Amino acid sequence: MIRIDGLSHHIGAAPILQDIDLTLPRGKLIALIGPNGAGKSTLLRLVARLEPLQQGRIEIDGLDLATTPTERLALAMAVMGQQTHIASRLRVAELVGFGRWPHHHGRPRPADRAAIEAALEAFGLASFRDRFLDEISGGQAQRAHLAMTFAQGTDWLLLDEPLNNLDMAHSRALMARLAELVRGSGRSVVTVVHEVNYAAAWADHIVAMKNGRIVAEGAPEAVLTEPVLSALYDTPIEVSRHDDRPLVLHHHWHDQLGAPFPKQVELDQSFLH
Ligand SMILES: Nc1ncnc2c1ncn2[C@@H]1O[C@H](COP(=O)(O)OP(=O)(O)OP(=O)(O)O)[C@@H](O)[C@H]1O
Ligand SMILES: [Mg+2]
Repeated sequence: MIRIDGLSHHIGAAPILQDIDLTLPRGKLIALIGPNGAGKSTLLRLVARLEPLQQGRIEIDGLDLATTPTERLALAMAVMGQQTHIASRLRVAELVGFGRWPHHHGRPRPADRAAIEAALEAFGLASFRDRFLDEISGGQAQRAHLAMTFAQGTDWLLLDEPLNNLDMAHSRALMARLAELVRGSGRSVVTVVHEVNYAAAWADHIVAMKNGRIVAEGAPEAVLTEPVLSALYDTPIEVSRHDDRPLVLHHHWHDQLGAPFPKQVELDQSFLH
């Protein structure tokens, strides 16, 4: 599990994360939701040690982030950031190959090549393998970054908005693949998602953030409710059900009586803790 204790983070004088205590269980698909600027990426970057820890403590499966060597950490956790800057004169298969670096340190073995092939295949990239990253579409590039993260073969995957640029079919395929990693091979996934219905359909556990704090946490049933979501996003949100899971509706132009939105909804922040 990932244990976060007393985590706070500032940029200049601005508090970005405040007093976060959070336990992320192993073997679950965990969705991190919340409005823009809530602190989701900052939290993920701190857990991934892409930012120096200012205050608090983070442990991943018993490894203290403050003292664990990078090589050890890279075998425990793979990360895909929200912004993926990478040299564009790199071929897709080379990018995916970087995911194996922690395993071979420059001397790939057959198992590494097999993992690269499997990742290319899994993300439908086999026919793009020799293309440069600046010669493929945004969604294909996103899939190449995901394939690199998968190829790393770690117990933990931390993904910041992996659905960016993906069409409906590729989004669904990715969520199904994440669910399969969790249920089939006992991996643990933490993923930021904006489209809460992907969390509703696939997540085991949801963590909701707002203003640098965790404001709700639990099973989809507990977090994806009208009062919690309406308060979280400061917007009236309706929750229905589909396939025995919550289905979040926020595209309505009219309420049930036919009155146009915005209908008068009490956005009661007391639903957030
Ligand atoms: N380099 C920076 N300098 C100043 N403020 C920053 C910097 N990076 C992030 N912030 C601020 O920190 C807060 C949290 O940002 P963060 O990127 O963690 O949010 P987020 O929840 O991931 O949002 P989004 O959904 O838009 O990706 C925001 O208010 C943002 O403006
Ligand atoms: Mg972000």
